[in-house]
Amino acid sequence: MCGIMGYIGGKPAKYIIYNGLQRLEYRGYDSVGIATLGKQLQTIKTVGDTSKLNIDLIDPKATMGIGHTRWATHGKPTEANAHPHSFGAITLVHNGIIENYEELKTMIDSKKLKSQTDSEVLAAVIDYYFKKEADLVKATKYALQDAKGTFGLAIISKDAPGQIVVARRGSPIVIGVGNQQYFIASDQTAILDHTNKVIYLEDDQIAVVKADSLELYDLKLLAQKVAFETLDESPESLTKGVYRNFLEKEIHEQPTALANTMRGRVSSDGSITLGGPNLSQADIAKLKQILIIGCGTAYNAGYYAKYELEKILGLPVSVEYASEFRYRFGAYDPETTLAIFMSQSGETADTIASLNEAKRRGIKTMGIVNVVGSTIAREVANGGIFLHAGVESSVASTKAYSCMVSALLMFGGFITYRQGKDAAITQKIAKELLELPDEIALTLELQDSIKKLAQKLLGYHDWFFLGRGSLYPVAMEGALKLSEVSYLHAQAFPSGEMKHGPIALVNSQHMSVLLLPEDNLLYNKTLSTLEEIKARGGKVLTVSTRPKEPASDFHLTVAHVGDHVDGLIYNVCLQLLTLAISEKKGLNIDRPRNLAKSVTVE
Ligand code: F6R
Repeated sequence: MCGIMGYIGGKPAKYIIYNGLQRLEYRGYDSVGIATLGKQLQTIKTVGDTSKLNIDLIDPKATMGIGHTRWATHGKPTEANAHPHSFGAITLVHNGIIENYEELKTMIDSKKLKSQTDSEVLAAVIDYYFKKEADLVKATKYALQDAKGTFGLAIISKDAPGQIVVARRGSPIVIGVGNQQYFIASDQTAILDHTNKVIYLEDDQIAVVKADSLELYDLKLLAQKVAFETLDESPESLTKGVYRNFLEKEIHEQPTALANTMRGRVSSDGSITLGGPNLSQADIAKLKQILIIGCGTAYNAGYYAKYELEKILGLPVSVEYASEFRYRFGAYDPETTLAIFMSQSGETADTIASLNEAKRRGIKTMGIVNVVGSTIAREVANGGIFLHAGVESSVASTKAYSCMVSALLMFGGFITYRQGKDAAITQKIAKELLELPDEIALTLELQDSIKKLAQKLLGYHDWFFLGRGSLYPVAMEGALKLSEVSYLHAQAFPSGEMKHGPIALVNSQHMSVLLLPEDNLLYNKTLSTLEEIKARGGKVLTVSTRPKEPASDFHLTVAHVGDHVDGLIYNVCLQLLTLAISEKKGLNIDRPRNLAKSVTVE
């Protein structure tokens, strides 16, 4: 949510910053701006995305600068509220929220503020200390000691050229290291074109970045050790390749992403080995409850896994929205509970806050995360599982969902084996998982017929997604995707809930997507929902493993692999449906309105 890009070195800063911001646009596209420092400070800003920014206005000779792409929190998406913000001698870009900005205004001449943002207030507070100290690093330190809230910051000063001061509390900052040059970003995707050698800032660290040096300090300005890490992603992973948009690319990447999630972990002999979870045999023996926490699609993936993990492990599995868990008192026994934090980005603010809350309560914490080096990956106490799904650029998450579910299934197979249960349970999970990449590849071949179907469905504006058992969470994910990318009103219900209220909405203009399972008992139960909707004149699209459903209006047939993984195949059909409808509507598929990838504010 919001993106930061900075550069200092020997090259024209504006192009590097601009390209970095383009990479980061999926994190917010309400407004964008760049400030460079050469002979003088130059700032350009605009409402909208990078395509609206005229970088010709900036001197190419400037070799340092900062930029920002914004997802509005405080204040509307106007040019005045766009970053970088300058106050006095200070210019900065900021991700996060300064919670006590009203209180901080008492330190400054607030009549001089030009925007409604908390970020400009912080710039003014740094300027206040800069006037006293005449030292940018000390001024930053004092201001950050006063500030409450979260920040990822890059700060420059026209009166202290040749350096960018960078700081972090709760909002990620990564610094890429080049030859006599440094790249500062809120997300490694912005710097992959230039280097794979990086440093992740920790909370309350300040970095002083010059073209030829990098110094790291804590908030008391005591020097800290600089530890480099190497990224394994390539710049190619950031392009659309042969696809029209990242959503389509990432849907099609699922067979490979799943194979990568399983590589070296799920074996054809039926065993599942995980090196990441840090749980002793005693921890596993004590385990009485699993708690899965996430937001949006990550939550939906956890909800699907709940159905399967309860079968596999015979333990209760609760799934909580991170935004609820962080403020709710759930009576979880720290001795016997394991909390698993699900996040593609590893930077979702609510999920991080819930992780901190679980740790405070002494609950064991594990992560299922895609982005290596992210906050959740680094801060869980008991390790976890990296998805290795590759970069997910589309705001709407697809491949991460499939990989998250698979990672939780692998976890179930791994733990049940370590609990000393029948090896056949693990072998069944392994077998189904290993078949999944090929089956999903075959499901992707339905894309053309789903496109034709989408054409017939364009007139429906209100949708239900219905399922039973683990197909109910698949329905939840289907409804989320359709609403966020296609801007259609979509809700999910367990199909058995229809007659308790939702069926009142059904009429001839209403479309229900009904997911019928392979299992005979549940199949017949779900079929009665189909009859009930048809009896009220509603339209129904069925998705099932049967070749046809006579009573429905539209139908898609999916493969049956096994009860643990079938839902993932249904889900791919629903992803393709959202893609097809959104394309036909001519929407901005990778950047749905009002959204941003990686929600780093509460
Ligand atoms: C929906 C979507 C969001 C994210 C949610 C959590 O398509 O992408 O609902 O799933 O914001 O994000 P992560 O997984 O990064 O924590």
